[in-house]
Amino acid sequence: MTTVTTATTVTEPDALRDALGLLKDREQVAERLLDSSAKHSFDPDTELDWDAPLEEGKWFWPPELVSLYDTPLWKKMSEEQRMELSRHEAASLASLGIWFEIILMQLLVRHIYDKSVTSAHVRYALTEIADECRHSKMFARMIQKGEAPAYPVSRLNHNLARVLKTVSTTPGSFACTLLGEEILDWMQRLTFPDERVQTIVRGVTRIHVVEEARHVRYAREELRRQMVTAPRWEQELTRVSCGEAARVFSIAFVNPQVYTNVGLDRREAVAQVKASGHRREVMQSGAGRLTEFLDDIGVLRGVGRKLWKSSGLLA
Ligand SMILES: [Fe+2]
Ligand SMILES: [Fe+2]
Repeated sequence: MTTVTTATTVTEPDALRDALGLLKDREQVAERLLDSSAKHSFDPDTELDWDAPLEEGKWFWPPELVSLYDTPLWKKMSEEQRMELSRHEAASLASLGIWFEIILMQLLVRHIYDKSVTSAHVRYALTEIADECRHSKMFARMIQKGEAPAYPVSRLNHNLARVLKTVSTTPGSFACTLLGEEILDWMQRLTFPDERVQTIVRGVTRIHVVEEARHVRYAREELRRQMVTAPRWEQELTRVSCGEAARVFSIAFVNPQVYTNVGLDRREAVAQVKASGHRREVMQSGAGRLTEFLDDIGVLRGVGRKLWKSSGLLA
């Protein structure tokens, strides 16, 4: 009889990882990430000038990355209304970021619960949790600074995530982490160097990009190891849950209340974003590095792949 085990609660898979040399690799990666954290970490409260006034005529998000860009509705909007939409979308994405980070902190805490407290792998996880604490406070401050409301996800997604963050398997958790981190990261890499964008938004995205590169590395390396050693059922579950998360993510990405709040018809706006070729291209480019990686380690197969396609994030 074969016993089913989960990677988070038993030491057996760790023994297998050890035999494959994966634990040594895990420690080496964590040591490098700890080194980098010691050199390049920021305290947003002191690093950024929160008292500086907002700048007249500047965007809160690069226009090409605003959901309605290039749609018939966009063409009818005044420049002022477009900028207003960028202010609300930046707040919506920052709210989504906080939601993700709070979920991620819980996943990381669960991940290390059974691991050696003196390992570099656990020390790095704690470092990352500290990063995410600063990020969530920083995003909240940015929303307030932009005088926009916070945009929570729908009740349903809020509660779906409540279940996910409580019961998800280790590889499932890391796959979802990457989904949350990589697409927003891709957008932020285009935002911080953009001189058309508000200085405070550029500062926030710069800090986030620098610190997030380590998080992506940590999650990728762990997911790669997990997909080698996890039992088959867990690998399969990871493919399906990750595909489902991609589907939910693509719908929840921008809260449709932003359209109402800038005086647009919400239904019409949602329909135009859905039909927009430019938007599809943006989202697929944003997910490109991630889907390439997931394909490489065998996450994009079967039903999971179909879900990814239906999310519109995979061509
Ligand atoms: Fe973050
Ligand atoms: Fe992160």
